[in-house]
Amino acid sequence: MDVFTLATNRRSNREFSKREVSADNLGGLKDYFASCPRLVPDIDVEMLILGEDASERLNACVGYHRFLIKAAHYIVLLSDVDEHYMENAGYIGEELVLKLTEMGIQTCWETIADGPLLKKRLNLSGDKSVAAVIAFGYEDAGLFARLGIKSPAEIFLKKKPGTAVPKLTIPQMFYDDEWGKAETISALDPDDDLYRACAAACYAPSFLNLQPFRLIHDGDKIVLVAVLDEMTDAADARLNLGITMMHFEGAVSRQSSGFQGWKLETPDKDYKLPDGAYVVGYYQL
Ligand SMILES: Cc1cc2nc3c(=O)[nH]c(=O)nc-3n(C[C@H](O)[C@H](O)[C@H](O)COP(=O)(O)O)c2cc1C
Repeated sequence: MDVFTLATNRRSNREFSKREVSADNLGGLKDYFASCPRLVPDIDVEMLILGEDASERLNACVGYHRFLIKAAHYIVLLSDVDEHYMENAGYIGEELVLKLTEMGIQTCWETIADGPLLKKRLNLSGDKSVAAVIAFGYEDAGLFARLGIKSPAEIFLKKKPGTAVPKLTIPQMFYDDEWGKAETISALDPDDDLYRACAAACYAPSFLNLQPFRLIHDGDKIVLVAVLDEMTDAADARLNLGITMMHFEGAVSRQSSGFQGWKLETPDKDYKLPDGAYVVGYYQL
């Protein structure tokens, strides 16, 4: 999978047609799920693929303001509850999103507004938690509904063809050495592995496109910092972080970089973080 290209071209779709994804492609998605990289490989995760008939059960349980984006199919990720399981679900979910993107299939993450009710509606027993829901299928007539955020109470969808949602750039997303210090990554060659990974991280989808995280380039480490915001709840914040780690790692690790992967630990250093920000982990270059 060419993660860099897929990550920079992907965007959420909110107008799906009724056209179903072929059994071949669904089989390819299941195979990919069985073998795709994970952030925390020890956590057991199951994938359900639901059809359009699940819309009624998902209705009012998922989506911004409980407004379901209807699609021909939905991925539901069920996970054992363990340390970093939501980041892991975000990471795996985005692997699946990019796999579908590669197949020419559109996607949209959907926030889980009422997990217990969703579990009940899907007749799920057992200890696993419903960690993620992703709508997927084919776009309807090339219309992308664009997200607009006026205030927490005013989130609206505008139908507009072919427009991408703006994302933070590398100078806005990255610092060198400590919080607030101007970065030097954007001076790298755009073909450089590190540059591509950092650009891919900037393109990560996030809840309401708020991108509540920053990255600090500290010598041989890229340190991921979460920034608490009032609109993103803890579950979506952790999904966001997993998605961002997937974009970064996917854009480097499948090339011959020799980079060593994410460690969900805090380096012993004062990054002069503002209140409400905390280190999630670091990528060892
Ligand atoms: C954790 C998470 C939850 C999301 N929930 C919803 C949702 O409930 N409804 C929706 O329309 N989009 C949802 N999105 C999609 C984001 O709004 C979208 O990724 C963001 O606006 C950036 O746009 P893009 O994906 O086109 O780059 C969600 C994204 C993430 C990562």
